[in-house]
Amino acid sequence: MNTFEFSLAGAKLAGRSGILELMDDMGHALAGDPEMRMLGGGNPASVPAFETLVRERMSELLADGDVLERMLLNYDPPQGNPRFLRAFAALLQREFGWDVSPKNIAITNGSQSALFDLFNLLGGRFPGGRAKKILLPLAPEYIGYADQGLEPDLFVTCRPGIEWPQGRDGHVFKYTIDFSAVEAALAGGNIGAIAASRPTNPSGNVLTDPEVAHLSALAAAHGIPLILDHAYGTPFPGILFVPAKPFWAPHAILVLSLSKLGLPGTRTAIVIAPEAIASAVSSLTAVIGLANGTIGQQLILPWVESGQILQFGPQLIRPFYAARSLAAAGWAREYFNAAGLDWALHANEGTFFHWLWLKNLRLSSRQLYERLKARKVLTVPGDYFFFGLADDWPHRHQCLRLNFSRAPETVRAGYQIIAEEAAQASHGS
Ligand SMILES: Cc1ncc(COP(=O)(O)O)c(C=O)c1O
Repeated sequence: MNTFEFSLAGAKLAGRSGILELMDDMGHALAGDPEMRMLGGGNPASVPAFETLVRERMSELLADGDVLERMLLNYDPPQGNPRFLRAFAALLQREFGWDVSPKNIAITNGSQSALFDLFNLLGGRFPGGRAKKILLPLAPEYIGYADQGLEPDLFVTCRPGIEWPQGRDGHVFKYTIDFSAVEAALAGGNIGAIAASRPTNPSGNVLTDPEVAHLSALAAAHGIPLILDHAYGTPFPGILFVPAKPFWAPHAILVLSLSKLGLPGTRTAIVIAPEAIASAVSSLTAVIGLANGTIGQQLILPWVESGQILQFGPQLIRPFYAARSLAAAGWAREYFNAAGLDWALHANEGTFFHWLWLKNLRLSSRQLYERLKARKVLTVPGDYFFFGLADDWPHRHQCLRLNFSRAPETVRAGYQIIAEEAAQASHGS
């Protein structure tokens, strides 16, 4: 077999990464292993009421020959479809009073691409040999960021505080931002942007409004942007179970995506950013991919123009996932208590994940993951999500991320098997 040498950047991007392993496992399970209980991956569920709307809208598009042809025949400008950009800016002005125009918006082929662009625009090597990093104020953070830097060690991450909203025996914990750690990281002067997912993948944490305001003030004081990844958040898909105000500021960059609404196949994301940054993202789209997919934008255009898109979260998507979350939490209590585990779930304030902390594990979460996979339960081991932390921390090897959005009987069976395997893998149980 030929061996080819890759560039440093190429070798870094093409090496085995957590996100590749995760997507591979999930893809194979979805495509070819019907026995596998899919509690891994970040695939959204099929939400029937939303799917009906998508089918109706697709039929409309098919019936309208002119629109269909324009949608499939033409490249859009790299920034996005001009009518879509106008409609989106108008929606944000009308509904939230944000001072944004179409020039503040850039469409990308999914938010994964948007974040790659943003992290590498704002972090990496700069003229004069300076290096800047992206500060993630609260670990654990989304596994998909971990390998996105063209330069190594792009991220600096802060260990969180841990609170027990129901007391120490309540089996519920919540991460909070340790602002002294954030300020210490900023003090070095080499941070190019602060970034966080809200709600957070994997923990289901939602940064509180005061936490976001505090981060925004720190970013402004240092003259850097605050990137908020709203893949699960406001204004859509709205998979939020606690109140959280949509946030915007002139130095904020919001990344929205159609994926968790139920349309990951359309690969469509919307970046709302200062003009210079939206324009740079469009340039990267042109260089890397020429243009964006048109289908997602055309599909949701009438919903953006009418504002209906803001109703889907509260009316269809959130109630669906809230019911799944509640049911799965019930099975966690039932099976994990019966197995005698020392366990806790992060407060599920959003997303469709439970973040399970097993405090007495004898094995690492990765070893437990392998055992569970052998029993046909796919999860995601927690250590992947703690990249960028300066020190090792036992907690990072004690967590699993569980996607509870699959069919209830699958999730229930999965939680039962996790309880059995975790009991075997724990001290004193
Ligand atoms: C927090 C977060 N950000 C971004 C993404 C990327 O999603 P997409 O590229 O489908 O928009 C995901 C997907 O799971 C995610 O969980």
